[in-house]
Amino acid sequence: MQIGHKDNMEKAHMITCTAPVNIAVVKYWGKRDEDLILPINSSLSVTLHQDQLKTTTTVTTSKSFQEDRLWLNGKEEDISHPRLQSCLREIRRLARKRRNDADPDLDSTCLSHKVHICSVNNFPTAAGLASSAAGFACLVYTLAQVFGVEGDLSGVARQGSGSACRSMYGGFVKWIMGHQSDGKDSIAQQVEPETHWPELRILVLVASAERKPVGSTSGMQTSVQTSFLLKHRAESVVPGRMVEMIEAVRRKNFTAFAELTMKDSNQFHATCLDTYPPILYLNSVSHQVINLVHRYNRHYGETRVAYTFDAGPNAVIFTLQQHVLDFSQAVRHFFPPETNGQFIKGLPIPQADISVELKQAIGLEPMPKGISYIISTKAGPGPCVVKDPTQHLLGPDGLPKHSEKHQDNGLEHNIGF
Ligand code: DP6
Repeated sequence: MQIGHKDNMEKAHMITCTAPVNIAVVKYWGKRDEDLILPINSSLSVTLHQDQLKTTTTVTTSKSFQEDRLWLNGKEEDISHPRLQSCLREIRRLARKRRNDADPDLDSTCLSHKVHICSVNNFPTAAGLASSAAGFACLVYTLAQVFGVEGDLSGVARQGSGSACRSMYGGFVKWIMGHQSDGKDSIAQQVEPETHWPELRILVLVASAERKPVGSTSGMQTSVQTSFLLKHRAESVVPGRMVEMIEAVRRKNFTAFAELTMKDSNQFHATCLDTYPPILYLNSVSHQVINLVHRYNRHYGETRVAYTFDAGPNAVIFTLQQHVLDFSQAVRHFFPPETNGQFIKGLPIPQADISVELKQAIGLEPMPKGISYIISTKAGPGPCVVKDPTQHLLGPDGLPKHSEKHQDNGLEHNIGF
């Protein structure tokens, strides 16, 4: 990319990129440094495919801009948020460093310009997926393209939201907690690419939530202050679990992967309950999903399905391609959906009836409308540049093209940092 060279320095730079959501299978919960966002344990996640879930961000610079500005889903937001400021400051610092160290010819005009940023998600906030991870990953990736910054940027994304550092890579990603006080060694690394385990499938079961749960930032603060179980988890459980999880991923050992995933989710929610006052993210639908998964696996005499829950009631299910249809029939039976509306969004799953034996073996009382819909997806790639200029979210005047909500993949756009 050519940026800021003298011959085109008057030209406005406009770049659009997309970034993925990730779901942790070894959870991050607790910081040792609130400002730099340094965690008390390492974590590991799977990057979800952007065909189903992504943030899109456009950044442009111009010497005519008076100030940095940000629009989320067409609505202007306060750019003075400290975490947004950390990301902007870091990228500008790295761009300046690069110009000074390596490329003195690189014109600095663009660096002194203000930026306009516009960002949208293609999934509803109600999906309970950490939109801040995709949001900050996309912001940092796009800013880096605009200012010509290269190399690992997970340490910058981390300063927007901890889990965002893992959205800087596709496939299976670890966030190494690091030990330095300046956070330079607290970065994300890809363990295996998205092509590594093509049979692995992911279902997001969107529970119809009644209220907004406690945010992760404040929730984990209280946990660090009050939970001995969290300290034990971070010091004595996660280090060994990271080794085992990486091994399970490398060997595509679904049984080991699934059991570690469920145990880690359960321990994370146990630390939330051990927090004082306790934090309860799971609801009756979540508990029903947990029961369903264990009874399903018991019926088949093997671990075919795993669940994991973040800071909300929605389950994320991992299974293998050959079990997707059978398990989704069980979900549809025990959570009968509304008749109107699409129950399965994303990668198609045919509809069929659950077998009598499975229905009897599971033997739970159905919970009508407990799950609003399922997003069917798989592991996917990291952030990408969008080449098609018609996809820019900002017009040539540097203002958002659309201020209305869009529809994409049947999922309403929404954004939250
Ligand atoms: C439960 O990354 O949202 O999803 O660093 O304060 O922005 P901040 O928190 P955030 O926490 C995510 C917590 C989690 C587990 C995980 O993704 O590892």
